[in-house]
Amino acid sequence: MSKTQFMTLARHIIEGEKRHPEATGELSRLLSDLSLAAKIISLEVNKAGLVDILGFTGGNNVHGEQVKKLDMFAHDILIRAMDHGGHFCVMASEEEENIIHIPARHKIGKYVLLFDPLDGSSNIDVNISIGTIFSIYKRVTPDGMPGTLEDCLQQGLNQVAAGYIVYGSSTILVYTTGEGVHGFTLDPSFGEFLLSHDNIKIPKKSHIYSINEGNYLYWHPGLKKYIKYLQEEDEKTERPYSSRYVGSMVADIHRNLLYGGIFMYPADHRHTNGKLRLMYECNPMSMIIETAGGRASNGKKRILEIQPEILHEKTPLFIGSEEDVRMVEEFMAKEEISSEVYFSNKS
Ligand code: AHG
Ligand code: MN
Ligand code: MN
Repeated sequence: MSKTQFMTLARHIIEGEKRHPEATGELSRLLSDLSLAAKIISLEVNKAGLVDILGFTGGNNVHGEQVKKLDMFAHDILIRAMDHGGHFCVMASEEEENIIHIPARHKIGKYVLLFDPLDGSSNIDVNISIGTIFSIYKRVTPDGMPGTLEDCLQQGLNQVAAGYIVYGSSTILVYTTGEGVHGFTLDPSFGEFLLSHDNIKIPKKSHIYSINEGNYLYWHPGLKKYIKYLQEEDEKTERPYSSRYVGSMVADIHRNLLYGGIFMYPADHRHTNGKLRLMYECNPMSMIIETAGGRASNGKKRILEIQPEILHEKTPLFIGSEEDVRMVEEFMAKEEISSEVYFSNKS
């Protein structure tokens, strides 16, 4: 793209749909609705540090409304922005135990929306990047009826679109419909997402690893050996690797997508299925990373092929540059150990 052309998110989505004569334009409209929610959340995230100074905390704000925690605020905004467009038959959020129905007064659509409204919420108060993650499916139950749990419990392979927004030094929205991964930076002065990262490809091999090393004691022995291997010196394979872990998965994976890297949230003795949620975090990030040329697995199996059994299912996650993810899988496969210890429940 020439530097003198501006490609807005809305135009980019429409151009993408034009390449598919069978497309109805509905996906374009729902992604535009999502970008509106992203702008509102971004604005609120930027004000987070002012909450104490302006005396809003814990009570009512200037409008007499109860102040919400930012993750609940993001959850509510997403529902309010998305429930009346006529696109969705059901939604689900990391912040809500059950599926979210579309109110009866609104049209029921053919898509399903799953989201993590605010990822990295422990970083909100310390000015570290946080994000929103979304995943979109087509319904599997008959059209016209309210959506069900069955519509939500689909394999990641069925996603028709996925993306995330990082609220960082700038706000960036990254999405894919399976044809390339594209990033748009929000211009705060006129409120438009402009194409800044066209057709992102993740490097095949990296020299960055991201993992919470505080859990080392509890890891699979193969994983321990892999991390020690990354810390050894070898010029040819660019070792030792650098360690980078922000504690917001969306920000860690965004950096690794651009620079190359492997992000891991493994199972361990205390968390037998890791920590991250399959439907709201792992599936959408896996669709993005795979479309960009990377790899995502639970250590044994491709994330996108996992058949979910429950809405808030957790899974171990190894995601990023293809060669690095393959290598950690090999290290773990070499260690003879009962896999039940690491893959035993769905909670
Ligand atoms: P969330 O804020 O949506 O609950 O997710 C937090 C997740 C993820 O963003 C991050 O990578 C991970 O928790 C960090 O966990 P640890 O503190 O255990 O490393
Ligand atoms: Mn999260
Ligand atoms: Mn969250």
